[in-house]
Amino acid sequence: MKKLSILGSTGSIGVNTLDVVSKNRMQFCVVALAAGRNIDLLKTQIEQFNPLIAAVMDETLAVRLRESLPPDSKTEILWGAAGYRAVARIGDAEMVVSAMVGSAGLVPTLEAIDAGKHIALANKETLVAAGHLVVEKAREKKVRLLPVDSEHSAVFQCLNGQREQDVRRIVLTASGGPFRTFSRAQMEKVTPADALRHPNWEMGRKITIDSASMMNKGLEIIEAKWHFNLEIDNIDVLVHPKSVIHSMVEFVDGSVIAQLGIPDMRIPIAYALSFPARMPAHDGFLDFLKVSPLEFFEPDPDRFPCLKLARDAGRAGGTLPVVLNGSNEVAVEAFLEGKIKFTQMPVVIAETLSRHRSFSSPPLEEILAADRWSRREATNIIKEIKH
Ligand SMILES: NC(=O)c1ccc[n+]([C@@H]2O[C@H](COP(=O)([O-])OP(=O)(O)OC[C@H]3O[C@@H](n4cnc5c(N)ncnc54)[C@H](OP(=O)(O)O)[C@@H]3O)[C@@H](O)[C@H]2O)c1
Repeated sequence: MKKLSILGSTGSIGVNTLDVVSKNRMQFCVVALAAGRNIDLLKTQIEQFNPLIAAVMDETLAVRLRESLPPDSKTEILWGAAGYRAVARIGDAEMVVSAMVGSAGLVPTLEAIDAGKHIALANKETLVAAGHLVVEKAREKKVRLLPVDSEHSAVFQCLNGQREQDVRRIVLTASGGPFRTFSRAQMEKVTPADALRHPNWEMGRKITIDSASMMNKGLEIIEAKWHFNLEIDNIDVLVHPKSVIHSMVEFVDGSVIAQLGIPDMRIPIAYALSFPARMPAHDGFLDFLKVSPLEFFEPDPDRFPCLKLARDAGRAGGTLPVVLNGSNEVAVEAFLEGKIKFTQMPVVIAETLSRHRSFSSPPLEEILAADRWSRREATNIIKEIKH
């Protein structure tokens, strides 16, 4: 039995991970869970999986959770940074699923790697902000970073058994989100509810907005750079509205290998959990006759400027990707709260990036400082912006 610890168990990836575990109960045991604020769902998960420990964001939530559990519950309830550290480092686990959202996942993921855990990595912001540290530490500790993001799982599968030097480029596919065919003028008027309606995937709120702005694909370019040791310029993006091809790899001889499947996150999650084996993960299978024809389009840089912002920050490196990520998290939140328009998100991010003085090869303290700086700066820029 593989023992798992899950950071972000109450989120979309966390819930899907536990569903995969439930379908394969003889192979996995859940020893630790960490959530943010959703103690109702965490309570249900604790009752179902009986982890040794569970952690939430603060002490008040921890006390409420403890009181809601039956008195004979053996799960120890922890909170805050120390609680997340305990979940990340728990001795019993051999794999940690990193599925918190945003840069909150960075420190616990580094803790888990430091403790020698293999990582099923969904939290792309960790690689965006601190790819060099994560990859270096994983190498030092001899742990695997198994991609959960569907595109990176696809590339990982296409690269299986291939030589690094034979890769010419990778192509990340993007659905194009709900505004793929919208004009610039239409995009000026979209609401958070419009942006939260993704055509193909059911995901958490932040990544759904990122998908609508295509920042998600930008973050994924940087994520791919670190996962697969590639130059940013060897990572292309194609809009593929049906999300059937999850990504592809082109080799120097002109061969292209693609990974296909229905858009269901349980497939890449299951592969990360059971690698190199495969196991049942979901109920549907791909019907080629129903999905044809498969179409591809060039992403439009004018309507989706986040893609270029991310590519440029990824190419420049240093603390710029940290600032890209931090300011994006603030901009997404401000858009969801109705403080800025959808089209103002890239304006906030670009302005924050332009005010930043980047450091190369930043250590963790510099990364955390740049993250805090970017959030303060983006918040100020939002206050200055005319809605
Ligand atoms: N969803 C997908 O299909 C998908 C696909 C590819 C990659 N990813 C990546 O996977 C990660 C998770 O995405 P998601 O869609 O599952 O997000 P989500 O549904 O919003 O869930 C986020 C999880 O993180 C927890 N959390 C939020 N803020 C936290 C904080 N400050 N400290 C500790 N925990 C915190 C949440 O707890 P509470 O809800 O209890 O507050 C929840 O468990 C993201 O990095 C995303 O980019 C997601």
